[in-house]
Amino acid sequence: MNCFYKSVSQTRSVYTNCALLKETPRNLKGKKHSSQLWLTRQIRDPYVEKAKQENYRCRSAFKLLQINEKFKILSPGLTVIDCGAAPGSWTQVATNLTNAHAKNQGPIGEVYAIDKLPFYPVEGATVLGNMDFTIAKTQETLHQLLQGNKADVILSDMAPNASGIREIDHDNIVLLAYAALKFALQTTKVHGTLVIKIWDGGKSQQFEENLLKFYDNVKVVKPDATRDESSEKFFLAREFKGLKTS
Ligand SMILES: C[S@@+](CC[C@H](N)C(=O)[O-])C[C@H]1O[C@@H](n2cnc3c(N)ncnc32)[C@H](O)[C@@H]1O
Repeated sequence: MNCFYKSVSQTRSVYTNCALLKETPRNLKGKKHSSQLWLTRQIRDPYVEKAKQENYRCRSAFKLLQINEKFKILSPGLTVIDCGAAPGSWTQVATNLTNAHAKNQGPIGEVYAIDKLPFYPVEGATVLGNMDFTIAKTQETLHQLLQGNKADVILSDMAPNASGIREIDHDNIVLLAYAALKFALQTTKVHGTLVIKIWDGGKSQQFEENLLKFYDNVKVVKPDATRDESSEKFFLAREFKGLKTS
């Protein structure tokens, strides 16, 4: 079932990738090697602790904060669509920086956050849980919510479940990236911004070339919060040229 503001009872699984662990796991015996590595890495990761201290749902918040610190893509009053938003740390960052929660003086932004998983509401954001972004009906819903207006910034941190086979995972995330790009072309204001995550691979360059057809300024960004061993990188595409209407 699709939902807005999904109940929290269904959200436990959302946190498995982004858990905020502080304590040393007492007993790693019996756990798979990959789980042991994951737990150990979480404990040593300063961003995990920092996320907990600053009340972010997930360490990923710092990736967007670092991108924004350098490139100033988010500001009060902007309309943002956050694709692949669960558990919601980018949504938290976006609502704070656009003032979508109206907690500060000045322009009030709008944030629409979407994920195929259910996730907890974020104050000031319109949360669309249990909705697959790649399905036409989902995108129609977003257009309806925008009431004919366009977005200033589209974010995609969408990622498929990783198979562990690099080429397959790359291909799958590139499909999601193209879905986000296609949507962005229809939904972004001229001069608007798109941020898209991919796991690097053979199709990255072609994707970048395609972005350059529609955006005047395209950069590849790897924020400090991205783990060194990760193939993750973000395309930051700014100055949307708009689509020619003939
Ligand atoms: C890395 S997580 C996002 C973390 C999020 N940006 C945050 O800071 O909390 C990637 C998310 O992409 C979502 N996702 C993958 N495919 C999707 C799709 N087709 N439609 C919507 N969400 C999708 C996953 O469910 C997952 O929650």
